[in-house]
Amino acid sequence: MEERLIAPERREEDRVLDTLRPRRFGEFPGQEPAKERLEIFIQAARERDEALDHVLLYGPPGLGKTTLAHIIANELGVGIRTTSGPALERPGDLAAILTNLADRDVLFIDEVHRLPRTVEEILYPAMEDYALDIIIGKGPSARTLRLELPRFTLIGATTRAGRLTSPLRDRFGVVVRMEYYDPQDLTRIVTRAARILGVELEPEGASEIARRSRGTPRVANRLLKRVRDFAQVRADGVITGQVARDALELLEVDALGLDRVDHKLLRLMAEAFGGGPVGLDTMAAAISEEPETIEDVYEPYLMQIGFLQRTPRGRVMTRWAYGHLGLAPPAGTPDAQPTLFDELEAEGQES
Ligand SMILES: Nc1ncnc2c1ncn2[C@@H]1O[C@H](COP(=O)(O)OP(=O)(O)OP(=O)(O)O)[C@@H](O)[C@H]1O
Ligand SMILES: [Mg+2]
Repeated sequence: MEERLIAPERREEDRVLDTLRPRRFGEFPGQEPAKERLEIFIQAARERDEALDHVLLYGPPGLGKTTLAHIIANELGVGIRTTSGPALERPGDLAAILTNLADRDVLFIDEVHRLPRTVEEILYPAMEDYALDIIIGKGPSARTLRLELPRFTLIGATTRAGRLTSPLRDRFGVVVRMEYYDPQDLTRIVTRAARILGVELEPEGASEIARRSRGTPRVANRLLKRVRDFAQVRADGVITGQVARDALELLEVDALGLDRVDHKLLRLMAEAFGGGPVGLDTMAAAISEEPETIEDVYEPYLMQIGFLQRTPRGRVMTRWAYGHLGLAPPAGTPDAQPTLFDELEAEGQES
């Protein structure tokens, strides 16, 4: 299957972008409500010389969960140890990490919904009492030994909060839902990235890239990198608004960040299914994707911009989606109630 430029999951080409990771809240635009809460909790924990409460970060890929975990550790002035759910195969793997933490350190567990059950169980007392319960011996003579751990903050990240067991979810004192970024914040993000990469990016070029980045910083940075190549070869290296538009048109990313696959999906929904309702599995088969990927990754953006609605009987296209494709909506097509993207909303209405 061809790789989608706008796919928000991390991949090899994103590695050079790691140098762009903000290290402080001040360099991290967006997620304002979450940042504000975290800043208060961090300051309070520091003043009391306590470990910060455990934090759960959840939301679609590429919105800055890993980045935020590192920022939290930096702002706390403590160390961070990172691992992931699938990497912790046995309880001993987690025990080894926990016993080696320094006082008040952050332990970051990515994909925390994929922790094996047996590992998750030793995490409960660790999170609650900073203790490890070790069973010594077998059979009737077995006994439990309680081992004290350093105070620590667990930061868990997941794209699938619904997959967490409730005992685990309940042990996080701070739960942060990451939101898609608005074009203003994404403009700030690509402008900063361009400065670090030494790319000449005009404000109009920045906002053009921002609006096509699907609310996702990882996509914004990736598009910047591609547009930079285009500017170097086809223009004089400066990313103006026009250069950005031409580059992204060539890369088949439209004015709202939709690519060929999105167009194929929407067109199929319109032409073969009268705009829906269409079931998830049918949608998935139509564009040869996993239903889970559609549900967690592509559909949330289409719903965010008000192109799709979820109903009990399946997904339904809205008038704005028809307008964007240049098709006439059949009678009864719903209007959309989009939430965040003010600028995109306005554009949806125009088209
Ligand atoms: N608010 C932000 N400001 C600037 N850059 C950001 C911001 N959020 C994310 N980024 C950049 O976007 C990229 C992706 O961020 P990150 O890896 O933290 O996302 P993630 O939510 O952990 O994704 P995944 O679910 O795939 O693990 C990074 O290169 C990071 O520098
Ligand atoms: Mg991550």
